[in-house]
Parts: sequence; C-alpha cells; structure tokens
Amino acid sequence: MQKTLSIIKPDGVSKKLTGDVICVFESAGFRLAAMKMKWLSKAEAESFYYVHKERPFFADLVDFMTSGPVVLMVLEGDNVIKRNREIMGATDPAEAEAGTIRARWADSKQNNIVHGSDSEESARFEIGHFFSGIEIF
Ligand code: CMP
Repeated sequence: MQKTLSIIKPDGVSKKLTGDVICVFESAGFRLAAMKMKWLSKAEAESFYYVHKERPFFADLVDFMTSGPVVLMVLEGDNVIKRNREIMGATDPAEAEAGTIRARWADSKQNNIVHGSDSEESARFEIGHFFSGIEIF
C-alpha cells in the first residue's frame, strides 16, 4: 500500500476545517496511518519546503506555515499520492476542479488549506521529516 504525507495548513485549522478535511480523506477510502498536531518552527518549515527555497514566495510561505498549528497525517491507500492530489485540487483554488478541497475552502495559492506529497520520493522525505517509524500504524 502506498503512503503520502498530508498537512492541514494553519488556514485549515483556524477555519475549523480539520474534521471536514479528514472526513473527505476517510470517505475517499484512505486509511489514517499517523496523525499529530504541531506548530512548526521556522527551521522545520524551511527544511520541509527546501525545494522551493529559490522561489519568490518562499519567505511568505514559511511565515504562513509557522503562523499557527498544523495537522500532520500519513494517509495510506492504493495510488494514494495521485488520488490525494486529485482530491485536493490545483494549487491555485481558482483553477481547482469543483468539489475539490481547495475549490471548496482555499483563499489563495498560498493559503490553500492542504499539502500533499507529489511523488513517492517526496512522500518518503516528507513522512520522515515529521514521523518516526513507531508513530506510523
Ligand atoms: P503546497 O502543495 O504545500 O506546495 C508548495 C506551496 O507553496 C503551495 O502548496 C502553496 O501553499 C505555495 N505556493 C505555490 N505557488 C505559489 C505562488 N505562486 N504564490 C504563493 N504561494 C505559492
């Protein structure tokens, strides 16, 4: 079974969408293999998003991701990386397909409610960034 890292970002938590988002994932048949709430440090957010460090939005992204607690999850399922990205919708909510998490609830490209790994390689890195083996069930 494939695993992916999912984050409910500070906007999702502060808008009280945690339960709704988890409901979407479980209704899609994904299994919650791990979950924790955490307020990320600047260093944790910077290292998590290191692939974007040269992008013009990087500093704002790090500020946003450290602006409040997030919910970190490992989701498991058949083809879960791709299916989760379909369920989240495009990064920019204006381009996200109707019914997706970002089309329903996101405000902007940055404040887009959820993160999901984009490949098996990034899922391995991202899961390991936040969870040890004994925290994943
Ligand atoms: P995420 O899927 O977590 O991956 C990188 C994040 O950077 C993305 O969601 C957005 O929150 C943010 N992001 C990507 N592109 C832009 C952009 N053009 N402007 C602002 N933020 C962006």
